[in-house]
Amino acid sequence: MHKRLMMITFLAAAALGICLIIFNLPEKQSPGNVNNSQTATSSANASPAATTYKSNCVACHGTDLQGKIGPNLTQIGAKLSKEQIYAKIMKGGGGMPSFEGRLSADETASLAKWLSDKT
Ligand code: HEC
Repeated sequence: MHKRLMMITFLAAAALGICLIIFNLPEKQSPGNVNNSQTATSSANASPAATTYKSNCVACHGTDLQGKIGPNLTQIGAKLSKEQIYAKIMKGGGGMPSFEGRLSADETASLAKWLSDKT
């Protein structure tokens, strides 16, 4: 008696699970696709480095590199080389967090290049 109840419950749960998978997948995919195309268009005029900056550095260095908790970076290229900026992002220090493992080497390199052009 008990076993049969459990079997029925199990089958009902499995059926529900399958329904959820079947009906949810296409739904989940379409907003994802919409989002992707939106980000692609909205960031079309912003460089990938600027986007990386916006999502990782703005809180401390300000929306326009003007500085906040961290120093002003508007002319950082005059002070530090691309390599030094790369090292600073990777290693952090002096109140700046390390981005090693959070940003890829490629992202860090293009961000360092972008910042070293700010003179
Ligand atoms: C939690 C706050 C914080 C975040 C987030 C942060 N920084 Fe910093 N950053 C600092 C602080 C504080 C310093 C000053 C460190 C020092 O004097 O050594 C600094 C220093 C720097 C310097 C050297 C500036 C100089 O004049 O020597 C660079 C370049 C830099 N940050 C780039 C970045 C980039 C690029 C990002 C995003 C990937 C970032 N920072 C994210 C706080 C932050």
